[in-house]
Amino acid sequence: MRLKDKVAIITGGASGIGKATADAFAAEGAIIVIADINVTAIDAAVAQFRKKGVTATGHVCDVSNRDDAHRLMKSVDAEFGRIDILVNNAGISRYRAFAEATSDDWDPVLAVDLKGVFFCSQAVAPYMRARKSGRIVNISSALGTGAAPHNTAGSPGGSAAYASAKAGVIMLTTTLARELSPDGITVNCVAPGSFLTEFSSSTRTPQQVEDHLEYRRKHLLLRRVGTLDELASVILFFASDDSSYVTGQTLNVDGGRSDRI
Ligand SMILES: NC(=O)c1ccc[n+]([C@@H]2O[C@H](COP(=O)([O-])OP(=O)(O)OC[C@H]3O[C@@H](n4cnc5c(N)ncnc54)[C@H](O)[C@@H]3O)[C@@H](O)[C@H]2O)c1
Repeated sequence: MRLKDKVAIITGGASGIGKATADAFAAEGAIIVIADINVTAIDAAVAQFRKKGVTATGHVCDVSNRDDAHRLMKSVDAEFGRIDILVNNAGISRYRAFAEATSDDWDPVLAVDLKGVFFCSQAVAPYMRARKSGRIVNISSALGTGAAPHNTAGSPGGSAAYASAKAGVIMLTTTLARELSPDGITVNCVAPGSFLTEFSSSTRTPQQVEDHLEYRRKHLLLRRVGTLDELASVILFFASDDSSYVTGQTLNVDGGRSDRI
């Protein structure tokens, strides 16, 4: 068991990629903390874990709120006496053509996707520093890496805010890795390509979802969309001692974007 008794906080862990990550961590013996804004989904996920005998707890936390982030870390430390892993996964998108986008599109995306990573990492650092160990894994996106914009086939278009936030997450990863390495904390990042979740399907019509899949089948080197397990296993790698000599890195998990390779 690679995460036996490790305390792992997963932001946005109540659904999609975060929930799949929590499942993978639980299978490796971790104590699971789901931090999310969706109370119903938190309760369902925690109940599911407890039914399987996994120690799990849920916290309502808006990552874009600094007080929420600090409250979360304080109460997890009080409950379990340690925090070993933070996965900064919570994210949102608002796709709108750049010329039409307003602050109502830009601000929430930057607040959750970039500032949320800053707040949660800053809030968890003292607890990890005190124990001279910790793993922070940030979730960026292919769109934050300069891969083709989101308005290719089957996508709704207009990703300026999202791509900017996700590119920021990559640079934040490298700067945090530098600043936290003296205290034994590694900080790495995963940049997912296409994975079918509420996030990716709610921003598209059913026809756009089908076009999106078809486009990926044609253009990805691996000719298919990835499964959530295939992504969670990479996040697990960065959260475990398998990656003990790796920090400040971003790994693309995208089936081989032929527009970049
Ligand atoms: N699905 C994809 O194809 C894809 C691709 C690249 C990157 N990503 C990134 O992966 C992450 C997870 O995406 P997903 O597809 O699982 O999305 P999802 O919508 O299925 O899940 C996101 C979770 O985050 C929670 N959340 C939203 N705002 C929050 C906030 N302010 N504070 C705390 N929790 C909040 C939601 O309630 C939800 O449970 C995001 O950062 C997203 O940008 C996803």
